Amino acid sequence: MLIRVFYVSVAVGPQTGTVTASILQQSQAYNSQHGITGVLCQGQGIYLQALEGEKGEVNRLYARIAADKRHTRVELVHCESISKRRFENWSMAHVHLSDLDPVTQVEWQTFDPYSVTGLLVLARIDELLASGRVIGATG
Ligand SMILES: Cc1cc2nc3c(=O)[nH]c(=O)nc-3n(C[C@H](O)[C@H](O)[C@H](O)COP(=O)(O)O)c2cc1C
Repeated sequence: MLIRVFYVSVAVGPQTGTVTASILQQSQAYNSQHGITGVLCQGQGIYLQALEGEKGEVNRLYARIAADKRHTRVELVHCESISKRRFENWSMAHVHLSDLDPVTQVEWQTFDPYSVTGLLVLARIDELLASGRVIGATG
């Protein structure tokens, strides 16, 4: 069974390019071997990630990620069973929130990822992907 989960978390320490590169490198290697696809949105001190794949694989990965000391307050926002992947082209796409245009950035500053439902988060990620703000992507 294919599932998709979304979680949010708070970064521990600054979200430097080095930290992000290391997370993405680990993600792309592991995810492509385990049939996981998704997107990692990062910036403003938060992470917002979608993971999709076989239920067992997603659960195993989520447990590893939740134990990672580079972030805290890891909270599952949404989980659903799916018939089709939404992020099928990316082992882990990357959206950098601070690259957003000024108008959208204002919105993000008032955006509390812990207070919205998973579907709103999904809509927000879709918006970001549709506007071409995915800066790092690999198949
Ligand atoms: C915000 C965030 C997102 C992550 N996403 C993934 C991911 O999609 N896939 C992955 O393999 N590791 C991801 N990681 C890294 C894992 O938490 C973990 O460090 C990595 O799987 C190596 O685990 P190990 O040290 O037990 O080998 C992420 C880490 C963070 C902080």
